Amino acid sequence: MEQKKGFIFDLDGVIVDTAKYHFLAWQNLANSLSISFTEEQNEQLKGVSRVRSLEKILEWGNVTVPEEQFNQLMTQKNEEYLEYISKMTTNEILPDVVRILETLIVKNQAIALGSASKNARIILEKVNLIDKFQAIVDGTNVTKAKPDPEVFLIGAKELNIEPNQCVVFEDSVAGIQAANAANMISIGIGDAKVLHEADHIFNDFTEITEEFINNLLTN
Ligand code: BG6
Ligand code: MG
Repeated sequence: MEQKKGFIFDLDGVIVDTAKYHFLAWQNLANSLSISFTEEQNEQLKGVSRVRSLEKILEWGNVTVPEEQFNQLMTQKNEEYLEYISKMTTNEILPDVVRILETLIVKNQAIALGSASKNARIILEKVNLIDKFQAIVDGTNVTKAKPDPEVFLIGAKELNIEPNQCVVFEDSVAGIQAANAANMISIGIGDAKVLHEADHIFNDFTEITEEFINNLLTN
């Protein structure tokens, strides 16, 4: 028999193609401090909070800055990121995200957002998807960053679904670890080599069939 489950979606890199904007903004910031910043290092920032991301970049560059400059760098990064976001359209919704959301809605499933971003609501409004979510848990609601399971556990609570009845879609290693720590089914969206800790991995949502969703609902 099909049961009601909780489906919790990460935002950046899962619903929308914003990971590239985070990368560009961090890269420019690193360059301005003469710190080199590779795509591999960027992978380690996915799902990681703004504050922790800056701490890591400074650590990699062996640079220390006074608190005031640290805060100013955070603002600088976010302002550049918001510039990119302001130009976003529905074209930046990743392939078949809407199909999967609609499938889940038709099947009367509970849907939440579980993101580290403090810009999550702005982005969901911008791409007209905010109404699809029954609960939105973002960087303004959590105290512990992924890989801590807090963001997903709050999501489950808001949906009123037990954690072990929840499914998480994530593109980051930290996010998959958070979902696993929350005792949820983790679905990696992206490179299988990077996301190997996930219970299931797909390159993108176009590979997720209705049959796969039906199996999740009956197991
Ligand atoms: C995560 C991104 O979703 O949100 C990270 O993967 C980002 O790259 C984090 O640092 C925080 O986002 P924001 O929008 O609050 O700076
Ligand atoms: Mg992400």
